[in-house]
Amino acid sequence: MAVYVVNHPLVRHKLGILRMASTSTREFRTVANEVARLLIYEATKTFRTEKHTVQGWAGPVEVEAISGKKVTVVPILRAGLGLMDGVLDMIPGAKISVVGLYRNEATLEPVEYYVKLAKDLEQRLAIILDPMLATGGSLTATIELLKKHGCRRICSLNLVCAPEGIARVEAEHPDVDIYTAAIDDHLNENGYIIPGLGDAGDRIFGTK
Ligand code: URA
Repeated sequence: MAVYVVNHPLVRHKLGILRMASTSTREFRTVANEVARLLIYEATKTFRTEKHTVQGWAGPVEVEAISGKKVTVVPILRAGLGLMDGVLDMIPGAKISVVGLYRNEATLEPVEYYVKLAKDLEQRLAIILDPMLATGGSLTATIELLKKHGCRRICSLNLVCAPEGIARVEAEHPDVDIYTAAIDDHLNENGYIIPGLGDAGDRIFGTK
């Protein structure tokens, strides 16, 4: 497993805006998608291309096209939707697989309440979207679900990660790579990432 911290000045700048408590819902939404675009740029760097010849303005010209990469984007409801537009800007042909999970307050384990997956998962790279990798419960549950449906190649895009969440994914799913803007310090007693950026769902949907 690899964790790629995308340490680009644009990412660091935009993450600073997301961390500010005074950032409006509207700006948060915009900037979260901007960071998603930069993370997906990194996450797709190993896609292979094929050369072919097209008719250019000055005659035949050799160009490249991404070859045979089928992708499904997997937002985990609801906060994952806040990264989806940015990713689809870059991979407009991707199919969308939606996973809804809630936490059973007795067991603290995630429970599925809505799942609609793309077909041919065994042929697709699944790119999971969840702004915050906190305990890793939702992410590992989503990875298990995708694997159960035949998916063999999975990576995760997270704006901010807690070391605890990374450790869990690493222990349970060492084949899954993570692309993130930051690894923060720790989780607090309520499961929030510190320093983090607060409740990403509330900040994206304006529900706080
Ligand atoms: N989910 C969030 O939205 N924020 C956190 O800090 C942790 C989990």
